[in-house]
Amino acid sequence: MKTLILATLIILVAADPVVYFREQFEDGDAWKSRWVESKHKSDYGKFILSSGKFYGDIEKDKGLQTSQDARFYSISSRFDTFSNEGQTLVIQFTVKHEQSIDCGGGYIKLFPSNLNQEDMHGDSEYNIMFGPDICGPGTKKVHVIFNYKGKNHLINKDIRCKDDEFTHLYTLIVRPDNTYEVKIDNKKVESGSLEEDWDFLPPKKVKDPEAKKPDDWDEKEKIDDPEDKKPEDWDKPEHIPDPDAKKPDDWDDEMDGEWEPPMISNPDYKGEWKPRQIDNPNYKGKWIHPEIDNPEYTADVAIYKYDSIGVIGLDLWQVKSGTIFDNFLITNDEKFAEEVGNETWGATKDPEKKMKDMQEEEERKKRDEEEKKMKEETKEEEEEDEEEEEEAKAPEDEEEQEEEEGEEETDSNVKDEL
Ligand SMILES: *[C@@H]1O[C@H](CO)[C@@H](O)[C@H](O)[C@H]1NC(C)=O
Repeated sequence: MKTLILATLIILVAADPVVYFREQFEDGDAWKSRWVESKHKSDYGKFILSSGKFYGDIEKDKGLQTSQDARFYSISSRFDTFSNEGQTLVIQFTVKHEQSIDCGGGYIKLFPSNLNQEDMHGDSEYNIMFGPDICGPGTKKVHVIFNYKGKNHLINKDIRCKDDEFTHLYTLIVRPDNTYEVKIDNKKVESGSLEEDWDFLPPKKVKDPEAKKPDDWDEKEKIDDPEDKKPEDWDKPEHIPDPDAKKPDDWDDEMDGEWEPPMISNPDYKGEWKPRQIDNPNYKGKWIHPEIDNPEYTADVAIYKYDSIGVIGLDLWQVKSGTIFDNFLITNDEKFAEEVGNETWGATKDPEKKMKDMQEEEERKKRDEEEKKMKEETKEEEEEDEEEEEEAKAPEDEEEQEEEEGEEETDSNVKDEL
């Protein structure tokens, strides 16, 4: 019985998720003591704490928001250094581009513990960079960059990021069997093997430098039929003198030179003769360069492994600011991360959408009312104008009448004089 309890305890302890880092910005200004702004440049943009223009929960949805346009941002937070050796590594956070972003980063960087946070900048060496990046209609992707032996490697696959104005959950899972998974809004969008989807290692096989295509290797699938001969009557000139042309009657050989009929296309002309094609009896197929094991290749069972992970940072550029980062989580437990995702992003996404929909509905109503008001006003003005016109018209008519009368008078005067 005792051993059973002990075994159960061990299993429970072993199954407990390890949370290396968690930040949800739910304690007012206290985040400022946990996050360090870099001083590498003097004009980095300011992060503020905000849940934005619309949200699911005004307190829970507070996060770090970029607040100045066309700025670099550089801020980071430190946690107890760990290695992911033999462990799954899960990095998760939410991003909300409520400003309808045109160009800007929405990714995090995971740094080794020796990072000098006060001097963090774009070239500071990191372990992993992960998250969305948008620039114009051309760039809308999720970066997954790993530093492997001092060099940054981009994923070979294209993962599209979200480009709407709502909060989205981004999750990267790196497993000790060198597989990975990327999730957006708790749904898998990409997965596979680290070795296959990044160029960390040289290729396993290379073309044998010793192998050469034999000189007599025949790669021609078809050849000219040696039996096929050009018919004797094949060759005809392409153009012939027009047999219907007649020398004009008034042609003077001495004056105009010797008469020649104009040339026309020869209806019997058959073009260049080409022999019939037959299967080549000596055809050997395409020569395939034999491959050998690449002497440069050494397998690495620990591509996934980082000895030191100690800082998470936001190091990015934004043209139009307003992005909110929240719900940072670094853990060794995929399921726990999914639960946390459900409890945070999952719980507030619908109310967030509802609030935005309501705001849009209100704006639409306001616009409609303003339009209606404008229409009414112009209608009133038009009516007033019409009245004025009519009033203005009346005396004009009288004048016209008077003029006409006057003309008549003149006419009669003239008549009288006559
Ligand atoms: C998260 O929520 C989804 C959708 O409701 C559900 O299918 C899934 O089981 C949840 N995951 C966890 C770990 O609770």
